[in-house]
Amino acid sequence: MTRVFNIENLVRETVKGLKPYSSARDEYVSDGSQMIFLDANENPFDSGLNRYPDPQQRSLKALFAEQKQLSEKNILLGNGSDEVLDLIFRAFCEPAVDNIITMPPTYGMYKVLAGINAVENREVLLTLDFELDVAQILEKVDDRTKIIFVCSPNNPTGNAFSKSDVTRLLKNFRGIVVVDEAYIDFSGQESWVASLQDCPNLVVTQTMSKAYGMAGIRLGICYASEAIITVLNKIKPPYNVNQLTQYQALKRVLDETMVQEEVEVILKERNLLVDALNGLDFVKKIYPSNSNFVLVKVDDASKRYKELLDAQVVVRNRSNQPLCENTLRFTVGTPEENKKLIVILKALN
Ligand SMILES: Cc1ncc(COP(=O)(O)O)c(C=O)c1O
Repeated sequence: MTRVFNIENLVRETVKGLKPYSSARDEYVSDGSQMIFLDANENPFDSGLNRYPDPQQRSLKALFAEQKQLSEKNILLGNGSDEVLDLIFRAFCEPAVDNIITMPPTYGMYKVLAGINAVENREVLLTLDFELDVAQILEKVDDRTKIIFVCSPNNPTGNAFSKSDVTRLLKNFRGIVVVDEAYIDFSGQESWVASLQDCPNLVVTQTMSKAYGMAGIRLGICYASEAIITVLNKIKPPYNVNQLTQYQALKRVLDETMVQEEVEVILKERNLLVDALNGLDFVKKIYPSNSNFVLVKVDDASKRYKELLDAQVVVRNRSNQPLCENTLRFTVGTPEENKKLIVILKALN
């Protein structure tokens, strides 16, 4: 049975009644005219950054809206997608009452944010081949389950989940399904953003930290229905995306060709790395990747991690994650870095 989604049943009581902070730049929106701004207690002398940034990041949102064929009302921007994820918790989860569902091994922040927000984290392991166990996930849902976090492509396993599995979750759960698409640009798969019109309970998060090469500016993007974005806007800090970030993000998004070229190089290098790993005795399994990293099962992860460190290569040992015993996660570097890495790997025995 398809269950009915009603956002009114999901929003936290305190958030429902909340009157959001209204900033100076919300109350008087500049149209570029030469005005004397005496409304925000700023220092009037021009340093290039003496004014508060646009709290609604209009120029940047207009660009994303055009790119995704959506309205700006379907977009919220944050200080990295980590902030966006936190806002989703705080908008919808009643502390010490509600629960969320995550599917380890997956991105660690969902669990940490659940802890910070005093929300129970119900875990349903991925299957042995790292697929979603949809029946088990739906089994875990109760009246207080507000969100299911689907990371696709998934970190640290690297694979993207099938459209049919995610669709089953969206159709059979009356809470919110967050699809975290941090690695979508490496996947060759269609983004779930294209399905927003058909799925009122879908929230898609993306980031400029991965394919866009801008981890340092902290810019996360949330795409959802206007109703969901309105709730998130109510609780976001007024100036959560700073001026420098907005400027650098605009520049980078406009340089779409450069981003595409870099993604192509990274994917080519990933294939070269996989080919090299395939021929090594200490490598037991290479998991298929739709991302800019590869999860690899080795004979002894601690030993290999240490050896790589001695050779001045830092990878991530993911062995403490469920189903990930003796695994290392390799992010794909530049062609030069990859070449060096392959030489180093071949010298290990
Ligand atoms: C799956 C996933 N989601 C979100 C993030 C966080 O991204 P951001 O840099 O936008 O906070 C990461 C970072 O590693 C990630 O792997």
